[in-house]
Formats: sequence, C-alpha cells, structure tokens
Amino acid sequence: MSKLVIANFKMNGSKDFIESWIKDFFAEQESANSIIVALPSPYLLTFNNRGLALSGQNVSNEDSGAFTSQLSAEMLKDCGAKYCLIGHSEARQFLTETNEIIKQKFDQLKKESLQPILCIGEPLKIKEASKTTDYLTEQLDLIDSDQENLIIAYEPIWSIGTGLIPEINDIQLAIDSIRSKFHKPIKVLYGGSVNSSNASSISDKTDIDGLLVGGASLNPKEFAKIAQLC
Ligand code: 13P
Repeated sequence: MSKLVIANFKMNGSKDFIESWIKDFFAEQESANSIIVALPSPYLLTFNNRGLALSGQNVSNEDSGAFTSQLSAEMLKDCGAKYCLIGHSEARQFLTETNEIIKQKFDQLKKESLQPILCIGEPLKIKEASKTTDYLTEQLDLIDSDQENLIIAYEPIWSIGTGLIPEINDIQLAIDSIRSKFHKPIKVLYGGSVNSSNASSISDKTDIDGLLVGGASLNPKEFAKIAQLC
C-alpha cells in the first residue's frame, strides 16, 4: 500500500533553494508513495501547482482577528496547502503550545477541510522512565477516539536532529499504543533522524504508514531515495 513520505523543511530554504530542490527531486523521484512537502508558509503560494502536495507547518487555533504573526486555516487553504503539521515538538517547545491549543488547531483545520498531521512524541526523561506509552496517551487524550482519517506522526523528541532512532521494537510498541486509542483505522508515521540508511528498516520491520523527514529532506536526492525505500 502506498505510504506517506513527508518533507518538513522547518525554517530552511529560500525561493531559489526550493526551485532547484523541486527540479532535482523530480529528476530522481521514482517512488509510488505519496509525497508531501511542508514548506515555510511564505512559499506555499509560489510553489502551489508544481506537482507536490503541500503542507503548512503550523496554524492558528483562532478563526481570524487580532492575532499578529499567526496564520489561519483558511489562509493556508487559500495558498494551496492540503495538509498541516500541528503539535510539532518544536512548536510545543518554542511557542509553548499545550494539548488544548493543539486540539483547537486540529478543529480549525478540519473546519477548512485541511488534513491535520498531528505530531506527538516523548522527551528523553520520559523514555528513560519507561513512561512513553502513558505520555503518548496523554497527548492524544483530547482527540475523539471515533475520529476518521487521522494522521499521527510519532516523533520522539530525543530523536529529532540527533542521529538517534529508537529500537525498531520500541517504534512498533509506540505505533500499537497509538492505534489502540482509536476505533477506526488511522495512519501512523514515524519521524526523527530518518535518512536513506535507516528508512527501509523502519518501514519494513514495522507497520508504519509513512515517514516524516526533517534534515535529510533538504537534500532532494536523499529525500527521493528515502521515498523509494519507504
Ligand atoms: P530530523 O529528521 O531532522 O530528525 O527532524 C524530524 C522532524 O522533526 C520532522 O518533523
């Protein structure tokens, strides 16, 4: 079955960089998997209709109004985004987002028929205390267990940008615990130090539905390889 392979550019790139990234990516890309690119929002409109499904990296929990610096779900939709990341650990940390706010963002996206990609994951001290499953459960508490078409990205915080990935068994345990919270089939992705050397083992040895790739996605050839291996 086709998997979802998502590039999260974070706050990287420029108009020229993305232009040449698209050219190089399509020169290498042979995967039948679905590719999504989470661009920095100023570039969404520019690179809409270029053969890539686009995602925002965050959205406001409000409809509109006096919220300087924020972007509404409607604006993201206008710019061509079909998806949006929410709850990324970097947004939780730097923007002090709580599970309540993230749930409001989820609802805003649903209202505009955008697909949320809800990111969850534990910090190192929780992993070391063997409390990962409880922590993930808490992060999902506010999401209706009957919700359809959910996409959850499991990204252990200690794995992001560190080159460390969990044991394959631990990834599968996290996936199982996430799936068990919901009554309908959901898509669960893995993110955290994914590259072309570990993508196929994560993908083949677990029942993951796709990968969310940060640093390695900035290299279009590497990302095309990951998409093929997933
Ligand atoms: P890295 O792939 O750089 O570890 O980042 C993962 C991530 O945060 C994707 O959202």
